[in-house]
Amino acid sequence: MIIHRLAKKDDLSRILELADRIEEDSSHDLRRNISSHFKWSSSPFRYFLFSHPQHNAVSYLALGDSFLNDTFCCSLDQIAVDKNFSNQGIGLAMLEQVPSLAKEAFGRPFTHVGLYASGSSYTFYEKHGFSLVDPHSPYMGSFYIKKI
Ligand SMILES: CC(C)(COP(=O)(O)OP(=O)(O)OC[C@H]1O[C@@H](n2cnc3c(N)ncnc32)[C@H](O)[C@@H]1OP(=O)(O)O)[C@@H](O)C(=O)NCCC(=O)NCCS
Repeated sequence: MIIHRLAKKDDLSRILELADRIEEDSSHDLRRNISSHFKWSSSPFRYFLFSHPQHNAVSYLALGDSFLNDTFCCSLDQIAVDKNFSNQGIGLAMLEQVPSLAKEAFGRPFTHVGLYASGSSYTFYEKHGFSLVDPHSPYMGSFYIKKI
């Protein structure tokens, strides 16, 4: 059972720690991007932290609001679980909550979730119903989408 909450400015350092797991696997400057999202009051991203019974902030994800190919597509911009809590179903539980979190964050329903997958996470997303749309994105990995 995991409980989510919207991240606050004070959560930045914990989110940066968790994000280091993503950075290991990608080439973009994630820490700098996250820090700027926390500085802007009008950032297009919403960050959610997840707690486990007796363990605060074991994982996080960041969602963005986008419009893609005529669909209201929520972008799953980042997702990471603390290494000490890996392979306990937390990543999957977070993915399952994306539709309701997106509605909570942006105030309307979405029809799709899209994401850029990097490194070893491809199989994680494929296992959970995402389909590969663009394997050669110039941005930061392969683009996957799932209807919700
Ligand atoms: C990807 C990640 C979020 C998965 O979280 P998790 O809590 O460990 O995943 P779960 O326990 O919910 O695993 C669910 C299933 O996916 C599999 N899985 C987990 N991580 C995987 C990975 N990186 N690659 C392939 N399969 C993976 C698990 O083996 C499990 O399979 P099963 O249901 O057959 O047993 C986590 O490994 C992580 O934080 N990775 C580093 C950051 C990252 O790569 N983020 C994604 C890119 S932005």
